[in-house]
Amino acid sequence: MVTNDETLFEKVVNLSKRRGFIFQSAEIYGGFRSTYDYGPIGVQLLRNVKDQWWRTMVQLRQDVVGLDASILSPPAIWETSGHLQNFSDPLVDCKECGARHREDKLEDPTTCPSCGESSCLTEAREFNLMFRTQAGPVVDTSAEVYLRPETAQGMFINFANVLNTSRKKPPFGIAQIGKSFRNEITPGNFVFRTREFEQMEMEYFVPPEEADEWYRYWCGERHNWYLNLGIPDNKIRLREHAEDELSHYSSATADIEFLFPWGWDELEGIANRTDYDLKKHAEASGSRLEYHDANNEERYTPYVIEPAAGATRAAMAFLMAAYDEEEVNDDMRTVLRLDPRIAPYKIAVLPLSKKPELIEPSQEVLGLLQPHWMCDYDQTQAIGRRYRRQDEIGTPYCVTIDFDTLDDQAVTVRERDTMTQERIPIVGLVEHLSDRLNL
Ligand code: GAP
Repeated sequence: MVTNDETLFEKVVNLSKRRGFIFQSAEIYGGFRSTYDYGPIGVQLLRNVKDQWWRTMVQLRQDVVGLDASILSPPAIWETSGHLQNFSDPLVDCKECGARHREDKLEDPTTCPSCGESSCLTEAREFNLMFRTQAGPVVDTSAEVYLRPETAQGMFINFANVLNTSRKKPPFGIAQIGKSFRNEITPGNFVFRTREFEQMEMEYFVPPEEADEWYRYWCGERHNWYLNLGIPDNKIRLREHAEDELSHYSSATADIEFLFPWGWDELEGIANRTDYDLKKHAEASGSRLEYHDANNEERYTPYVIEPAAGATRAAMAFLMAAYDEEEVNDDMRTVLRLDPRIAPYKIAVLPLSKKPELIEPSQEVLGLLQPHWMCDYDQTQAIGRRYRRQDEIGTPYCVTIDFDTLDDQAVTVRERDTMTQERIPIVGLVEHLSDRLNL
């Protein structure tokens, strides 16, 4: 069993590249720092993480609806939300080697971690993290736009639209998954901190007097989501923010932290954003962003509880938590013990040999399974090596078609974690796998 040893990071990064999870972006041009592309296996993993979030946060609830808001946004939104003034990190430059660092992340604020020189760092200056660009052909300030640094503002500016069209009333939530962009001073640790990333955020609008209760509720729900999807209890924790750590809009925040190879670090934040955003946008836009309770003729601005997760960061944590190595018959096997719900492929269909009489029934079995699950198909190499390849990408079941299949119309189903094999009739195969995969 691999623990949090210092080589785990390297191993996961290497596996990601070797097996098509995650590639350095623009690699053929020397790579573009801090951006990554999700390959054929990684895109499935990432989709599954997002699908599981959507299922839990929207599909299985009656009080949350979805949204897909635009990424390009006018300065008014960020002026009002406070991001133009406050969304910055303290930047210091090294006068010796020219390296730039985030002052709040330095172990020793007087020494440059790149060249080791002491007393060489400049005074910190606030560096705004938002990407700014121009929309339209005329370059003037009226066409200035920003790439959103969080998806959350999309929910606030659409609050009235959603309220009026969905007939929801507090407590209710608006959920969104999408790309966000931050000009991070020190991106790094693979996809942990990048300049372009995906968020999964939900704004839960509640009567102000219920805010504390819902804040605690969402801390618990979100912590359980990771545990339920297979992150071990000793690798995930909830950490309450101290007063001086709170964002400009928050009255309480807790981080869900994962034990990464470099230590505990943030996976998700749950914040009580109070009525800050709705009130600010109402004031700036002149729109009424309130809830009118027709029962008692009361009007109020809801408080907001926000669970804000990173999809790309969560995918990395799931990979790290699932990575394992074990000795099998004097050989090392690498296995990703991913929960089947987030495993890129659920099943691999493997004809024992490339002989034409096995290919046809294998294709038929594949055709039987594909409408239900994402399947891989592989007819190259020895069967043992093909099992190992599937173990490495976390495929929970392999279905092997052999020469006996031609007589008994049955296949061998091999389970990833235990490596046990069972003979299952093809007529009962979908049902057999449904019992195991549709959790
Ligand atoms: N709306 C609140 C908000 O955006 P945040 O803590 O700044 O809060 C939420 O971001 C989550 O988004 C983080 O917990 C993290 O998982 C993810 N995230 C933030 N910045 C990121 C980055 N540069 N790269 C990858 N993921 C990031």
